[in-house]
Amino acid sequence: LTGLKAELLAVALEAAHRAGTFLRDGRPDDLGVAATKSSAVDVVTEMDIASEKLITDFLAERRPADGVLGEEGASSEGSSGVQWVVDPIDGTVNYLYGRPDWSVSIAARKDGETLVGVVHAPMRGETYRAVLGAGAHVNDVPARVRPAPSFDQALIGTGFGYVAERRAQQAEVARHLIPKVRDIRRGGSAAIDLCDVAVGRLDAYYERGLNPWDYAAGDLVAREAGALTGGRPGDALSGELTIAAPPALFETLQGLLEDLGAWHD
Ligand code: IPD
Repeated sequence: LTGLKAELLAVALEAAHRAGTFLRDGRPDDLGVAATKSSAVDVVTEMDIASEKLITDFLAERRPADGVLGEEGASSEGSSGVQWVVDPIDGTVNYLYGRPDWSVSIAARKDGETLVGVVHAPMRGETYRAVLGAGAHVNDVPARVRPAPSFDQALIGTGFGYVAERRAQQAEVARHLIPKVRDIRRGGSAAIDLCDVAVGRLDAYYERGLNPWDYAAGDLVAREAGALTGGRPGDALSGELTIAAPPALFETLQGLLEDLGAWHD
């Protein structure tokens, strides 16, 4: 790998590892909530804020002309055409409770395309990375989706937003889905869920209402590992609905979610 993609990958990996080490080693025992966002259970900790600052300072030093979009408010245009999309802790509630599945998610986009995605999960000892057109890896091992089972044997990941009315509707969709599949998992980090599809720890994943920082890196990891990703029928992936599945399961899942009105209130 050479050129821009190689440089972006190296910067993303270093930023994610620096933040991951800081978060793992520096997690205060009495970590509390610093602020709330869309609802009282949509929380931000001082560590989310400090991690975003660590990452954006590092990016500004290494790639001063690039733009940044971060979950905790970082937003700049830049002049290079490259934009970094950063989730300083994806899975904040897991992190708050000392549960292991949280990650640092960093993607680099140019001209509307994600070129590089890195999801670093320190408590798993795993880093998922992908480069557009050059495959996905977990640590240094190529990542590949699991051979698709029949739909009724599929293990499906999902997640829930933080606003009560939206959650009730998401629970309703899940209620109808559970009898049709092997089981459902709610991992708590969308970025890790997408990577779990990439490495065969989930057969498929869907969620409504994600933000770009939740899915930008994991989406590329899943695609480069052989998954299809997208949104509503005919739509590209967006926050409205995010689906990742191997080709043999994708349309069935997408059609079922459409029938269940997964994106209607
Ligand atoms: C959240 C996680 C969670 C998903 C939520 C996201 P955050 O991100 O990815 O799994 O269900 O929709 O908001 O707030 O921990 O960065």
